[in-house]
Amino acid sequence: MALLPPNPEVLNSVSLIHDQTPKDNNAVNNALEAMKSGTANYAALLIQKLSIRPQQKMDDSIMEVADTLGEPFAESKETGTHNPIQEITPDDRVADLQTSSSSTTPLRLHTENLGTENIPDWVLIACAQNLEKAPTLIVNPVETVRVMGAIGLTRQLQLLREPAFGVQEPTAFALATGRDEGERKLLKDNIPIISGLNQSVGEQEGAPVVEVDFEAMTTDSYEHKNALAVFEVLAQKMAHKVVTRQGDLLVIRNTAQNRATNDGIIYASALHGRDRFVPMADSQRKRKLKRVFVRGRESIRT
Ligand SMILES: [Fe+2]
Repeated sequence: MALLPPNPEVLNSVSLIHDQTPKDNNAVNNALEAMKSGTANYAALLIQKLSIRPQQKMDDSIMEVADTLGEPFAESKETGTHNPIQEITPDDRVADLQTSSSSTTPLRLHTENLGTENIPDWVLIACAQNLEKAPTLIVNPVETVRVMGAIGLTRQLQLLREPAFGVQEPTAFALATGRDEGERKLLKDNIPIISGLNQSVGEQEGAPVVEVDFEAMTTDSYEHKNALAVFEVLAQKMAHKVVTRQGDLLVIRNTAQNRATNDGIIYASALHGRDRFVPMADSQRKRKLKRVFVRGRESIRT
């Protein structure tokens, strides 16, 4: 069957004009403010052409966008540094693991650092180099829930609403403390994948909260495991593939609720992931990303 065209409203894109900073660019500012306040119904934004400006200013531009959205912070448990700009490049030693430095295995769709104390409300991923054309995947999981309801997968949706799941720490957190992928801590247990409004039974106003890491979730029940697998297959099919170019900045709303403000608004949020790719052999030519986590602060609605 012809299945599930990706929703064009999940991802928006704007371009910077030559010599402007993100702050001075109306289109960029408007898009960021709309996302921040929840008036936009897209969950991710692609800002193009940061690279037209001198390369040394790229970090400044990323931080300007981060400051507009909230408070940038460093996740030192993963990186061991206090620099909020994390450099990500393929690492052969973890090529087949579920980390941002992997390459030859697909990075499964996830909410960044789900279950951790410092779950970022926003994840910014800037592209400094992507000669391999590795695609980043972006999907709004609420769209996937709607499609599951529309094609009659109500039993699976019901299972995903049950508190039958656990979430393990991200692989990179375990590796950073000398443990391997199989020795990850269970961060939370007895949680649901979907909570809040139930659109599959006709509640149309607002949206449910859907946060998930398909690789890190655990469950003892085959039925729940199968429901999660169906959800992942559909989310994967609906995902946008974004091949970022040098100078692009992908802004992803990572959480459906702003933990910092607790304002009760459910925002459009996105899961992200990555297809497998073969890194360039020459270390100077390997894919290079800069990632910044941002905690939301008081929204402009207050
Ligand atoms: Fe990630």
